[in-house]
Amino acid sequence: MSKNVLILPGDGIGPEIVAEAVKILNCLRQECDLDVELEHGLVGGAAIDACGSPLPEKTLQQAHEADAILLGAVGGPKWESLDITMRPEKGLLGLRAGLELFSNLRPAILYPQLAGASTLRPEVVSGLDIMIVRELTGGIYFGQPRGIRTLDNGERQGFNTLVYSESEIRRIGRSAFDIARKRNKRVCSVDKANVLECTELWREVMEEVARDYPDVELSHMYVDNAAMQLVRAPKQFDVLVTTNMFGDILSDCAAMLTGSIGMLPSASLDAAGKGMYEPIHGSAPDIAGRGIANPLATILSVAMMLRYSLDQPALAGRVEAAVNAVLDEGLRTPDIYTEDTVKVGTQEMGDAVMAAIKRGLWDEVTGSLPAQERSEICARSGGHTNDQD
Ligand code: IPM
Ligand code: MG
Repeated sequence: MSKNVLILPGDGIGPEIVAEAVKILNCLRQECDLDVELEHGLVGGAAIDACGSPLPEKTLQQAHEADAILLGAVGGPKWESLDITMRPEKGLLGLRAGLELFSNLRPAILYPQLAGASTLRPEVVSGLDIMIVRELTGGIYFGQPRGIRTLDNGERQGFNTLVYSESEIRRIGRSAFDIARKRNKRVCSVDKANVLECTELWREVMEEVARDYPDVELSHMYVDNAAMQLVRAPKQFDVLVTTNMFGDILSDCAAMLTGSIGMLPSASLDAAGKGMYEPIHGSAPDIAGRGIANPLATILSVAMMLRYSLDQPALAGRVEAAVNAVLDEGLRTPDIYTEDTVKVGTQEMGDAVMAAIKRGLWDEVTGSLPAQERSEICARSGGHTNDQD
């Protein structure tokens, strides 16, 4: 039965980068029989403009019904003066909370071709492969009470609440340990247990969870040290698990290790593995509409979707291999451009990934054939050949 993917382009560069990711999905539908139906919806500023709410009822309904969601980005200066409860970001937060997407996976992988694009020295980042597991539906982002109140002396006071229940900590802990089991079996839990009681409990519960995973090593780190270690010696980490806000901050930091925040995909999963997939970067209003945004984080988010929600690990591998291939070819959007590479725009990058997917398929078909037959097929296909040998 075909699966249903909801496409939410959002704001700023969102529509541009999502268009490239949709190209890839359509290519997989045509060339690899990927059985998905695509539906479009509104979220963020685009939804405010069209229907007066950052998360219209219809979008939430569509999201509940979908098997997976692909989101671009939300927000921009146009909506910054709105009340905080009506801002585009509330659309994204409402989707995360409404669908209980508590487990946010943010892999930070350095493609070797981009070692020179990182602001850190190549030897510090080469071979980097870490996974940040961020709690996404709790903590200070959602804690009550919250607001801005006026004190008796007339001064205004802003307040938010950092709160985590044991069950919330336990389920994100299990996510992290389960993932670590498939990787290098090391979890570092990041907290501020020396100051905040809430994360003292976080640490205790992580210890409890660890007892069920004797094959996985657990360590703890305060968040300030973790930020420092991420730029000092990031390869010491395998899986990092942390709260909603610490994860927000540390994942941006980790992004820069990989050369550009334009390279990092993410998956936000519920307990059953249903997910929303989005690049970790924002709507970048400063470059919106100029056709220069990097679509690779969104395209790699499609790969995560194929793996985690659509049960298509082989197709996920194809997409990742195609991204690798375009980087090998030296194609770079401006955010990852360095000397001796070829600067391309958003659409060219998407087209190149699509071409690389098709080329990969072609190589697979022809690769198993004897040379003679292969060149005949190539000749018949009107010279469409990547036959280098
Ligand atoms: C992210 C973003 C969001 C967050 C914003 C847009 C609400 O920064 O996904 O990291 O803070 O979670
Ligand atoms: Mg963020």
